[in-house]
Formats: sequence, structure tokens, C-alpha cells
Amino acid sequence: MTTTSSRRRTAILVSGRGSNMTALLAAAADPAFPARIDVVIANVPGAPALEKATAAGIEALAVDHRGPGGRKAFEERLDAELRARDIELICLAGFMRILTPWFVDRWKDRLINIHPALLPAFKGLDTHARALAEGCRIHGATVHFVRSEMDTGPVIAQGAVAVRQDDTPETLGARVLAVEHAIYPQALRLVASGAYEINDMRVCASEGESTTPAALIVPGG
Ligand code: GAR
Repeated sequence: MTTTSSRRRTAILVSGRGSNMTALLAAAADPAFPARIDVVIANVPGAPALEKATAAGIEALAVDHRGPGGRKAFEERLDAELRARDIELICLAGFMRILTPWFVDRWKDRLINIHPALLPAFKGLDTHARALAEGCRIHGATVHFVRSEMDTGPVIAQGAVAVRQDDTPETLGARVLAVEHAIYPQALRLVASGAYEINDMRVCASEGESTTPAALIVPGG
């Protein structure tokens, strides 16, 4: 059995409702999961995710990005909270602040993000409306290591759904969100297990390992 101490100490950073956070907490509730969630931090005081984390018995706090000193000071406060808890991995889960190269480099290869599109398509916001406007037949979500260029970095997992004729951004987004909840725990499992290598933009399972970077296609989704 995996002992508690061998599990990677993980923080989840959020800004809003925290449904991806909830999916990660559910996966990590299994003592055999290779990551344990030690803290949830929001950049927005009162973010609904904080209450959900507390209810799940996880330490939850806000580091307000509007505090004194601007962006650098915010990231230093965030970094200090993470280091005070010996955090090894960070999952961005609906964390809607762009992080500077200073923070991203400090946490290189230990900082992962989920984005609601099949990167490198549709970086940025309003991904579902843009996928519909472009006539995409397939859309989805990506979990990736964070690099300093926004929504860029080695892909750990992707999940895809078929776009339906009558889709709206809301209906499409709801199916993509279900995919997000499936692939984020898979991606964290791989990263926390350490059984992979990063070769430039490619994440490859270590030799002899059965766990592979995930690809999920929802049939008829
Ligand atoms: C998710 O769809 C996530 O992919 C997206 O925000 C939503 C957060 O929902 N993230 C981004 O757009 C980051 N650029 P959640 O709070 O319910 O997990």
C-alpha cells in the first residue's frame, strides 16, 4: 500500500466554482492515488471553491491578487504559501490569472493547467463559442505543463467530444467539462507517479511503464 508520505504534496489553485478541483479531490481521496491535496488557494476571496474544499476537509485560503504590491508581490505571497507547505506539484484548476515567467520558471515541470480546448487550438477565453464559430467538428480539453507563453506547454492529456449540429457554447461546454473532470485526475496521476519524461513538447511514458499520457475520446459525445 502507498504510504501517505510517498504521495506528492499537491496544491490546487482556483478562481471560481472549482468543479475540476472537486474531481481532483475525489481522485486523491483514494490513499493509493500518488498525489495528495494539501491545500487549495484562490486568488479571489470568497471563491465558491474555497468553501467546497473546506467542506471536504482540505485547507483552503485566499491570496488576493489585489493585495499590495502588484503582480510580483502577489506571486511572491503565493509562492511563500506553497513553500511553507512543502508543496511539490501545483494544479491550476480554473485559475484565471496569468502567471509571470518568474513564477512559471520557479515551478517548471511541477505546474500543470487544464484548458477547455484542444491545444494548440483556441488558447485564451471563450473557447467553446470560438470552436463553434470556426465550424469545428471536434472540440475538447487539454491538461499540460505550464510554460511562460499563455496556454502553451507539453501536453499530458487530452479529451475530445464531437460537436453537435445544435450545440450552443453552453451545451458544448458542459460536455467538455465532463471530459475535463475525467482527464485531469488521469493527468495528475501520471505526473505524480513520475513515470514519464518530457522531451521538448512531448510527454512520454518512461520505458517499461504501463501508464501513458492520456487520450480520451467520448464516443458519440
Ligand atoms: C474550466 O472549464 C477550466 O478548463 C477553465 O475554467 C473552467 C473552470 O471551471 N480554465 C480556463 O479557462 C483557464 N484558462 P471549474 O472552476 O468548475 O473547474
